Order: sequence, then structure tokens, then C-alpha cells
Amino acid sequence: MTAPLIDPFARPISYLRVSVTDRCDFRCVYCMAENMTFLPKAELLTLEELDRLCSAFIRLGVHKLRITGGEPLVRRDILTFFRGMSRHLDSGALRELTLTTNGSQLARFAGDLAAAGVRRINVSLDTLDEKKFAEVTRWGRLPQVLKGIDAAQAAGLRVKINAVALKGFNEDELFALVDWCAARDMDLTFIEVMPMGDLGGEDRLDQYWPLRDLRARLAERFTLTDLAERSGGPARYVRLEETGQKIGFITPLTHNFCESCNRVRLTCTGELYMCLGQEDMADLRAPLRASPNDSEVEAAIRAAIARKPKGHDFDYSRQRVDGQVSRHMSHTGG
Ligand code: 5AD
Ligand code: SF4
Repeated sequence: MTAPLIDPFARPISYLRVSVTDRCDFRCVYCMAENMTFLPKAELLTLEELDRLCSAFIRLGVHKLRITGGEPLVRRDILTFFRGMSRHLDSGALRELTLTTNGSQLARFAGDLAAAGVRRINVSLDTLDEKKFAEVTRWGRLPQVLKGIDAAQAAGLRVKINAVALKGFNEDELFALVDWCAARDMDLTFIEVMPMGDLGGEDRLDQYWPLRDLRARLAERFTLTDLAERSGGPARYVRLEETGQKIGFITPLTHNFCESCNRVRLTCTGELYMCLGQEDMADLRAPLRASPNDSEVEAAIRAAIARKPKGHDFDYSRQRVDGQVSRHMSHTGG
């Protein structure tokens, strides 16, 4: 009998986020530097190793898997991995297989993802203005992403839009984004910009648009009802009474969600981060490669979960960004 994963604060770990690549075909200003150095391919877990590790977590009680990156759909042959994971959906051990994507490759992959058992996806999109989109993603082109979203909806995938709230950038598009999502029956979540990585002198505090302010702006036009529903993560939801829409707010810099944290993050090199805001991690690649038998890696997973910290140390309340962690989102997978 395999005991489920419970951390020292009695939180069951049921949600694994997996970064399958650190690469991306975009260079969003808050996420990556223009000229990024990516990991050598040999450092990455192979697709077989990713399958073995995810299957071990599922055996230990993980029932939700979110595939991230970088951009997960730029990893070569990634559909083989998704198709592999669908056996755990079929067995009932896995309840949800999902991904977070920038949408650039969705026109190509949406049908196959749906066929592999993916039901919902998150698409990152901060602006509906072509020029601003090119500016914030540097390498991205909006029409390609919109085609991807069309393909996803046509394939029957439920789409949620994630927009990073950026002061002076998409403030003026708040209602345009809300209306656009309502018209397309898509949920919308705003994310506060996080102090991740060293992006060569760009000052994230300049872009910081507190969701408290965003919410107040929304309340000028809509009646907001707080929803009790939580995902075990940092998101809080409101309903706009006038449209029936659900809007999410992710404020990773507040401590209000750590008590219900049910997740851990696996990087594309097999490092397990127990908390997004802490440096502590466990290497799972070594035990994975040490033996074809999974008992070592299972023991390493259990030992890691036993060290999961109570919460993170982000703090924007001072002049400088305290608690900044030095790794990029593309490394830990957001
Ligand atoms: N702050 C907030 N969100 C970020 N993302 C990437 N970098 C940051 C950051 N510094 C988000 C993207 C996308 C997901 C991959 O992570 O916008 O929603
Ligand atoms: Fe790529 Fe997403 Fe980072 Fe943008 S935020 S560079 S799309 S991983």
C-alpha cells in the first residue's frame, strides 16, 4: 500500500506542475531576457524519464498534472508524453491533465491534445493589441495566438486566459479583455507580476499593478461577488453579476494561500521545488537515473515533501523587492 504524500503541515500534495522545457518561442519582458542561454539538451529529462517521474507522483496520490515550460509545446515530440499520460486518465488515477501555453503552437496541437484527454488549457495573453503584443512578448505575434485559441475552442478545449497585470501597459484594456473573454465564453485570470529572475535591469516595481487596484476598477462597472471556490492555489475568484463571468486574481505576493497549498513543481532537469518562493529543491534526476527500479525515486519524493516549507518570503511592501528568487519562471514553470 503506498501512503499518499502529506507534507509537515498536513497538506496533501495532489497537484504536480511539470516544466518540460526551459525554451520558449517568445521572450516576454517580465519572464525572459532577450538573449537567453538555455540548458544543454543533455541536462533535460528525456520524455521517458518525465513519464517515469510523473507516473511515480501519480502512484503517490497526485491526481492533477499541469504541463508548463518555457513553452511546453515547443518541446520536441511532446505529444508522445501527453499520449503516455492519458493512460493514467483512463485508469482514473489521474483526474486532470492540463497545460499552460502561450498559444503559439495550438493551431497545430489542439486536436491531438484533446484526443489525449486534455479538457482545459490556460493560455497566457496580456493584450489584444497587435503592437503591444509584439512589444511585451518581443518575438510573439498576436494573430498566430488568436488562431491557436480558435483551434483550441474548435477542438472542444475549455480555454482560460491568464493576463499579467502590467501598470501602464494593459491597464487601459481591462474592460476590453473582460468583454472579449465573455464573448468567447472564456474564463479570465489576472496575475500580479512576480519578482522572478534577473532580467537585466528592468525594474519590475515600475510594472507592478496591484490587483487590489485592478479589482476596484472592475467594481466601477460591475457588481462583484466573491466566490468561495479555491483551487488550492493563489487564485481567488469573483463573479461579475452583469455578465455571469468568473474572474480570477492571482496575487502570489500575499500569504493568503499558503495554508491550502497542494502543489509542488518539477523542473525540466528533474529538480523538485517544494515552494515557488523558496530556493530549496530536491534533485530527482539522480535517483531516477541510478536505478530502473522506482523505489529510490519514490523515497526521494517522500523525503522532499517532508521538507515542504510553510510558505514563501515574497514581499513588495518595502522599497526593494524582498524575497526575490534568482531563477526564471521558465525554469520553475510558473
Ligand atoms: N510575473 C507573473 N507572471 C509571470 N509569468 C511569467 N513570468 C512572470 C512574472 N514575472 C507568467 C506568464 C504565464 C505563465 C507562464 O507565467 O504570463 O501566464
Ligand atoms: Fe514564454 Fe510564457 Fe515566458 Fe512569455 S511568459 S517568455 S510565453 S514562458
